[in-house]
Amino acid sequence: PSLEEILNLHDFESIAKQVMPEKAWAYYSSASDDEITHRENHAAFHRIWFRPRVLRDVTRVDWSTSVLGHKTSMPVYITATALGKLGHPEGEVNLTRAAAKHGVIQMIPTLASCSFDEIVDAAQPGQVQFFQLRVLHQVSVYVNKDREVTKKLVQHAEQRGVKGLFITVDAPQLGRREKDMRMKFEAEDPSVVTKSGSEGVNRSQGAARAISGFIDTSLKWDDLNWFKSITKMPLILKGVQCWEDALMAYDAGVAGIVLSNHGGRQLDFARSGIEILVEVVAHLKEKRGLSFPNEKFQLFVDGGIRRATDVLKAIALGATAVGIGRPFIYAFSAYGSDGVDKALQILHEEFEMNMRLLGAPSLKDVVPAMVDASNLQSH
Ligand code: FNR
Repeated sequence: PSLEEILNLHDFESIAKQVMPEKAWAYYSSASDDEITHRENHAAFHRIWFRPRVLRDVTRVDWSTSVLGHKTSMPVYITATALGKLGHPEGEVNLTRAAAKHGVIQMIPTLASCSFDEIVDAAQPGQVQFFQLRVLHQVSVYVNKDREVTKKLVQHAEQRGVKGLFITVDAPQLGRREKDMRMKFEAEDPSVVTKSGSEGVNRSQGAARAISGFIDTSLKWDDLNWFKSITKMPLILKGVQCWEDALMAYDAGVAGIVLSNHGGRQLDFARSGIEILVEVVAHLKEKRGLSFPNEKFQLFVDGGIRRATDVLKAIALGATAVGIGRPFIYAFSAYGSDGVDKALQILHEEFEMNMRLLGAPSLKDVVPAMVDASNLQSH
C-alpha cells in the first residue's frame, strides 16, 4: 500500500510484517518468553482514561517541549533499536533524516548497523542526538581493558556533539526471544556492524544471540562515578523498573531515568513503563519532595507507545517525554526515510487534535487531573 493509505502507527507494523525479510521481522518484533510484558506495554495505556476540560481557547495548540535542555517539536524521541540494516539497506540513517525534518531527537544505539560516525554525519547542523550505551566486553585480546573501549566510545560521542548518554541497565544478559532464536543468523550477514569485533559470536540462534556475547554483566551503581569522570554529557539510566532504583538514581545525581522494560525483550512479566511512572512519581514526591515534570531529574517512559493519546497520558502523569521504538523501524523497513517522516507527521496531527479535545493548549496544561489512572495497576 502507498504511504497515503497509512493512517496510524499500528499500520506500519502490519505492512512491515508482510514486506520484511522473515529474519528481520523476527528480530524486530520478538520479545522475551511468552511476550506477556510486550503485550502489556500497550495494553496498560488502555487502563488510563481522560478527564478533558471544556471551553478553553484551543485555537492554537503547542506540543513542543525540551528534553535535557534541548528543544524538540514533540515530547517524543526516537529510541535506540539495534541492527537497522536488517530492515533497510540505509539502516539508522533513515531515522536521522526524518528526525531532522521534524525536529525530534534520535537516540543512536551502540549496536547500530550504520557506524556511529555515519549516523552523526547524516545529521543536520544543530540536530540533537543522544547516545545509547551498552557496556560491552572486549573478548579475546582486550580482557583487561574492557572499560577502555567504553571510555573511547563515550568520549568520541561527546566530541562529535552528542547531548546525552543513555546507559542501558536492564540487559545484563539478553532476554530469550524465541521467534528470533528460531532464525539462523548467517556469519556473512552485513547487518551486524559491531565495532567490538566478532570473535566468540554465536550465530546459530538469531540476531540477538549473535551480539549478546559482548555484554558486560558486572556494571554496578559505583560505576556511575566513573562515567561522570570520563564525560560531561548528562547521564540517563535506561531501564529502571521500580521506585527504589529511581531513588538511587536520583541520589546518584544522574540527569534522568527511562522507565522501560526494553520493549518487552528482557524480563518477561516486568511491568509497563507507564505503571512504573506512577509509582516513581509518588515515591520521589514523598521521599525527596520532587514534583514532575522536573527539569533537574527527568522521567522518560518507553514501551508500547503508539498514539499521541498514549504520550499525553505519560505527560499528564509526570514524564518529560517518551521513546518510541518499533513503529519507526517498521516504517523505514517498508518505506525508508519517507516512512519515518510519515510516522512523525501522523503523531503531529494526533497531538494537535487530541490536545484540542483535551482542552490543553500546551503541554503544561496536561496535568495529573486530566487523567484517571485509578485502574492502571496491573494487580
Ligand atoms: C530495542 N531496544 C534496545 N534498547 C537498548 O537500550 N539497546 C538496544 O540495542 C536496543 N535494541 C532494540 C532492538 C529492537 C529491534 C527493539 C524493538 C528494541 C529497546 C528500545 O530502546 C525500547 O526500549 C523499546 O523498543 C520501546 O518499545 P516499543 O516502542 O518498541 O514498543
